[in-house]
Amino acid sequence: DQNKFQAIISHCKEYGFIFQSSEIYDGLSAVYDYGQYGSELKRNIREYWWKSMTQMHENIVGIDAAIFMHPTTWKASGHVDNFSDPMIDNKDSKKRYRVDHLIEAHVETLDKAAGEALLEQMDNLLKNDDYAGLRDLIINNNIKCGVSGTTNWTDVRQFNLMFSTQLGSVSDEASEIYLRPETAQGIFVNFLNVQKTGRMKIPFGIAQVGKAFRNEIVARQFVFRMREFEQMEMQFFVRPGTQKEWYEYWKEERMKWHLGLGIAADKYKFHDHIKLAHYADAACDIEYNFPIGFKEVEGVHSRTDFDLKRHQEFSGKKMQYFDPEINQNYVPYVIETSIGLDRTVLMVLSEAYEEQDLTKDDKADSRVVLKFPPKLAPIKLAVFPLTKKDGLPELARELINECKQDFYTYYEEKDSIGKRYRRQDAIGTPFCITVDHQTKEDGTVTIRHRDSMEQERIPMSQVRDLVLKAIR
Ligand code: GAP
Repeated sequence: DQNKFQAIISHCKEYGFIFQSSEIYDGLSAVYDYGQYGSELKRNIREYWWKSMTQMHENIVGIDAAIFMHPTTWKASGHVDNFSDPMIDNKDSKKRYRVDHLIEAHVETLDKAAGEALLEQMDNLLKNDDYAGLRDLIINNNIKCGVSGTTNWTDVRQFNLMFSTQLGSVSDEASEIYLRPETAQGIFVNFLNVQKTGRMKIPFGIAQVGKAFRNEIVARQFVFRMREFEQMEMQFFVRPGTQKEWYEYWKEERMKWHLGLGIAADKYKFHDHIKLAHYADAACDIEYNFPIGFKEVEGVHSRTDFDLKRHQEFSGKKMQYFDPEINQNYVPYVIETSIGLDRTVLMVLSEAYEEQDLTKDDKADSRVVLKFPPKLAPIKLAVFPLTKKDGLPELARELINECKQDFYTYYEEKDSIGKRYRRQDAIGTPFCITVDHQTKEDGTVTIRHRDSMEQERIPMSQVRDLVLKAIR
């Protein structure tokens, strides 16, 4: 549903969730800034992931590695040679496309059977790196991507997706470094540091959240595909031969995490990879049903001992673990879970966004509400004095002061209560409190629940605990 997708994008801008980067200069393609509510939402998701991976697992610890890494890292990891996508240029429109994206967009215009047949042909050609075949497929199927008349395609070529820059002041080849395209390598190069200093026993994991950078070619789906984005990754080190079991274990664990967001199981599916990345012996995506269809939010990959072995080879340092249980030295195998934070933000927003027709209600006729799980909502509690006088603002401030140590609160005294409710609905605040004249007499306030819009009177002294319970 493209309309819903567009509505979410507009809403994100209008209510301070997500802006285009450098918007006053007409923006920078596929780069975005998080505003006052978006950054809170993102932080809450990041923290929820972090806690459930580290705090809740005795054998997983977190690190925070640098974005810049020694350039040999990326030779060892295979990214210099393999982290590229086949691209094709259209000579008429002077636009460059990723071949798979171009064909997939065309498939959307076909009926189901024809679309599947074309995708199968594409997958086979991609698997065999048959670039001439891919070009023929584009020409023979008359794929035009909006360009009218004859279309002139170049050959299909590989383009590396890594950004590079210079370290220090001298620009020679030796000082060229890359912005990391995944956070995982910061974990692999620290494997021994963490294992030794943390006295970690296999199986154990290392988790990390951080920025990653990719020069994506077709990047036009809001925060779904960005050039600067954030990943939440965990590498789980296991004994060789046990990777299949752990791969299944982590598939299930990660799906449980998603369902723990309160999202229905039928909104997800696993998609097994046919064409495996250069490091994997099994891999799948967890796909969520976005308004633009089922798309990947997370990958679970069985990465074998590829990365550690390569780092051992390129650094000359042993990347081995002594396993006291079997009295053996080995290079561990790795199961990786890798989820995009920005894509998760988009998933949570897509799930929460609702336009409601309230004509049955006498007060208003419609509202946009973001039904975030309370633990993820940017603001947890809004407090409104009914009027700006009679000591009501002071009472409202008293409640805010009691709560603001524990969670994010919001004070507002402008406009009617109904309008104030609507503004909080639009940013997903689960609870609103109104302080009125009765509060002065009996210490009770009106609490209004975002989703049901129900209101009840409760003692002001119970508000803090009620919210704390809801966001746990
Ligand atoms: N270390 C493995 C790895 O990076 P990936 O499948 O390339 O695997 C993992 O990326 C996740 O990172 C994806 O599932 C997606 O959520 C997120 N991601 C990847 N590229 C992205 C981009 N250009 N914009 C936003 N998120 C992206």
